[in-house]
Amino acid sequence: MEVVPLGSAAEVAALAADTIEALVRSRPAAVLGLATGSTPVATYAELVARRRAGTAPSYDEVRAFLLDEYVGLPPGHPQSYRATIARELTDDLGLPPDRVHRPDPTDVPTAGAAYEAQLAEAGGVDLQVLGIGSDGHLAFNEPGSSLSSLTRLKTLTEETRRDNARFFNSLDEVPRHVLTQGLGTILRARHLLLIATGAGKAEAVAAAVEGPLSASCPASVLQLHPHASVLLDADAASRLARADHYREVYAGKPDWQGL
Ligand code: PGA
Repeated sequence: MEVVPLGSAAEVAALAADTIEALVRSRPAAVLGLATGSTPVATYAELVARRRAGTAPSYDEVRAFLLDEYVGLPPGHPQSYRATIARELTDDLGLPPDRVHRPDPTDVPTAGAAYEAQLAEAGGVDLQVLGIGSDGHLAFNEPGSSLSSLTRLKTLTEETRRDNARFFNSLDEVPRHVLTQGLGTILRARHLLLIATGAGKAEAVAAAVEGPLSASCPASVLQLHPHASVLLDADAASRLARADHYREVYAGKPDWQGL
């Protein structure tokens, strides 16, 4: 795992956008795994700004797969992750809805297996963008999730529902159930790019990066992946015991290496 403590959330967004663009330049038919939530919003805004400025690579052949989707929202709800990613990123990058996939919340019993089949048919995810929950969740794999789980129905913890209530009119409106890629699904992506900003994530980041591998901290599963990059602002890195070492490693990297 490569941990990159940066100075600010803007630096995190810029490096994450650089990494996504570098992939799409080298592999025009790249398969991107996209997270929703607040953290990647700045990265997505950066990608959209670069496209408007005319410096972005072509996204004409790119396909995208979402990590997760709420179950039980009315069709077309603006907080569905399909609507969210279209609004924040994919519409502005020119990806039509038929190239942006999600687990299908209208057919929950079959959605998990169907999504795994779609991912396999696409050849798997090249680069998976990830956030981390304040309780250590990864996608919507809450503490206790099997480390080798695949896409399936999950129940949100009260902590996650409270965290996400800011997107809804009230806590009651936050769905209790979701479909989410499993931890085993996420581990199949070829490169994992976890981004975290703000002091509210510091404890979860420290547990994921430096704590034991444990289903009690689902994001610790990154420790099993051969190519995982963790981009942090100063606040999110503030509880790491080895932060100085990670900074020294990153500063000493050869230019050609990238993330
Ligand atoms: P956030 O969520 O980016 O909105 O903090 C992260 C997550 O729940 O994985």
